[in-house]
This record gives sequence, structure tokens and C-alpha cells, in this order.
Amino acid sequence: MQKKIFLNEDEIPRQWYNIAADLPGTINPPLGPDGKPISPEMLAPVFPMNLIEQEVSTERWIDIPDGILDMLCRWRPSPLHRAIYLEKALKTPAKIFYKDESVSPAGSHKPNTAVAQAWYNKEFGIKRLTTETGAGQWGSALSYACALLGLECKVFMVKVSFEQKPFRKVLMQTWGGNCVASPSNETIVGREILKQTPDTPGSLGIAISEAIEQAVGDESGQTRYALGSVLNHVMLHQTIIGLEAKKQLAKAGIKKVDTVIGCAGGGSNFAGLAFPFTHDKINGADIEIIPVEPASCPTLTATPFSYDHGDVAQMTPMLPMHSLGHKYIPAPIHAGGLRYHGMAPLVSHAVEAGLMTPMAIQQLECYEAAMTFARTEGLLVAPETSHAIAATIRKALEAKETGEEKTIIFNLSGHGLMDLNGYAKYMAGDLHNISMSEKEIEESRKISMGGNPVPKI
Ligand SMILES: Cc1ncc(COP(=O)(O)O)c(C=O)c1O
Repeated sequence: MQKKIFLNEDEIPRQWYNIAADLPGTINPPLGPDGKPISPEMLAPVFPMNLIEQEVSTERWIDIPDGILDMLCRWRPSPLHRAIYLEKALKTPAKIFYKDESVSPAGSHKPNTAVAQAWYNKEFGIKRLTTETGAGQWGSALSYACALLGLECKVFMVKVSFEQKPFRKVLMQTWGGNCVASPSNETIVGREILKQTPDTPGSLGIAISEAIEQAVGDESGQTRYALGSVLNHVMLHQTIIGLEAKKQLAKAGIKKVDTVIGCAGGGSNFAGLAFPFTHDKINGADIEIIPVEPASCPTLTATPFSYDHGDVAQMTPMLPMHSLGHKYIPAPIHAGGLRYHGMAPLVSHAVEAGLMTPMAIQQLECYEAAMTFARTEGLLVAPETSHAIAATIRKALEAKETGEEKTIIFNLSGHGLMDLNGYAKYMAGDLHNISMSEKEIEESRKISMGGNPVPKI
């Protein structure tokens, strides 16, 4: 049986898919401080105009420039694997496929948008990028992309992950990136938070505030901010994953996909695989599409669709998304990339439109799934990715119950070779499940949402 399906370099997709062209209903715009939709010019101090144009575009297909294809082809097209050893161990009639994004230089899907964002910034004349990182995958990816293009890179890494994964900083430094723990003493917002809560584990919301503050504070105008998830242009760049996967499944003779699964922090790896399949679903295909989040930071499964800021200091516009409140500091789980209070507006919109069925899973089930995967397929995955595997195993066991030969595909968003601390703690029995009670969810939203209007689809 064929174990992996490759595409040649010349078979790489040449256009990204923009789901904004196809989602049902009106897409709610980001709102400024006055509650009115923001204009592209208002984003200009933060992002270069060529990326802002992508952010607001509703064109269905967007050409990938040759300069970006050139960089993507250093590791793409990524392989599609059939998980036959996992299938055998589960004794399931389901066919399980996974798209292996861990083969990129930084070890995850993040370089797909990092090289694109760095390229557009360079085209626009920018010399330096600032960013946040949770688990360190995005900071590594952007440092790598900046090294390829000769840009400077500054990374604010969430403090708890900075301490859990020290080698991520070394990786960023190797590629020339400058990584500091967030909150830091380098920004006004960082100093203020450290004064009030010196022991805070940090959050993506805080790190985003610090990175934006530094970018807009550069009076030379040569610095911009890059975000590793959440925004429309990031989702767009990641669709290369699903577009490749569809070609590979066709090569493997698969006529119908039943279930598409990805873990969801800010939503980008999930959207990258899922949006091209969501396009089919919008056009009548019967596909179950599942974003999986941690039970300790449940946005899609536990909060209403509403407007909130993307960061603690309210520097970002208000985005229409599911949110635990921009001040929420998620529990310090090892899946650092899933510790985000909000969600990509395009993913939130698709969930609200009934195109996706989100799931939240506890960390012990996820680690157990990752161990099963390592002992069958051999790959040791990132703790974020383990959420997709746990959901895949649930679905494969459901198929065993019903005897259905379902085809399931999940996104293997990254390897876990720099996340061994979490595995060590799991094997020593030192990890436990963490979930938010309904009261905690309500409290967290009350503290930081301020009763923002809920947009209708
Ligand atoms: C390996 C991996 N998977 C998933 C994620 C979650 O991010 P997103 O939801 O944007 O894919 C991260 C974020 O750091 C990650 O490193």
C-alpha cells in the first residue's frame, strides 16, 4: 500500500485560495476605536500596503509571486502520508491521511506565510520586522524567512514558552533573529504588566501588543509588524497546504473526503488545510470539517461570535471572532501555540455559518494520542498538533463502531523535537487536565469585552 504521495516541484499550486470570496453572508469588517470600520490607511503604520490589499481582498484566487514560489520550493510540496500503521493499531476501517508540514526548515506550517510576509515587506522597502511567538514555531519561521531575504527580525516570545523551550531561542538566533521573553522591559506595555503582575506566564495577547508597539514606534518608518496567524492574509498564504493535499488525494485515487481536521490556535494551519475543502462544501460536498482547540482555552466551542481586540493593550482593531476576552491569560499548557484568546475571523465566520464543527479536547487525551502516533507512525509531533491527532483517533474509532470506510485527513502542523519537556512531564505523570468552567469563561469575557456588539451573519 502506498505510504506517501508526493508532488513534483512543478506541480506546486501557483495561486492561493481566498475563502472571503465564497463565505455565505456579509464579512464583518474590523472596527476602529470609534466603532467604525477601519480603512486600509489606518493599518499602514503596522503592515505594508501590499499585504493590507491582500487582507481586504475578496478575489477568489490570488497569484503567488515567483519570488515566493522559489522560497516555498525549498521544502514544498510537502508529503501526504497514509497513516497505515495507526489505522492498523486502531483496527479501524477508516483511511487516515496526514499532510506533513513538519518538513519545513523551522519544523511547522509557519514558514508558508513567513516567507510570503517577509517577501512583501521587502518589496515595500521595509528593513525590520517585529513579531510575537507562542511556542516559538512562528518566531523561528519568521527569523528563517528574514535570513533568506536579509531583513532584521525581533521576536517577543511568551514567557512560559521561553522557559519551557529554551532551544527555540537558539534556533531563532542561528537565523539572526533577536528573541526576548514577553512581557519584557523593552516596551511601555511590557513594563506596565511586569509592574502589576511580575510572575505572569505571559500570553500571545501581551506579546502582540509589545511587537506592535515596537513596530509603530520606529520613527524611521522602516519597521513593520508581522502576525503568524489570525489575519486573512495569513489564512490565504496557508491554503497552499489544502490545495496541495487535494492534488495528492486525487493522485492516491481518493474520490471523497469525509473528515478534515486541524488544531486551532489562531486558526492558520487548520484554515490552510480546511479552506480549500470548505470551498467544496460550500459548493455541495458532504464533508465534516473540525477545528480542534484545547479545553483550557476554548474559544470556538465556548464563546459567542463578537467583536474583540486581538491583543491585551488594545492596539489591534476590534476583530469579529470568538474570544475569551483580550485580557485573558490562558493556563500555561505545553501547547503554547494554542494559548490564544481569540480566533481567525474567517474561521469564526465559517463556524457561525455552520460549515465547521469545532471540538475541544483535554491535554492528557492529546498527549496519549501523540504517544500512540509516535509508536505507530514514528513521528513525534508538536503538542499543538496532538490535538488534531486526538480528534482523528476519536473519528477513526467512531468509524470502527459503525463499520464505515471513512476517509479522514488531518494536518500534521509541526514536529515536537523542541517540545520534549512536555513529553517528559507527561511520561512522569506530572501533567493534568485543565478546563475552564462556564463561570470562569463568563468572568473572563466580562472583564475584558465590555459588551461589544455581536455581528450577524
Ligand atoms: C506546530 C503548531 N501547530 C499549530 C499552531 C497553532 O497556530 P495556528 O492555529 O495559527 O495554526 C502553532 C502555533 O504556534 C504551532 O506551532
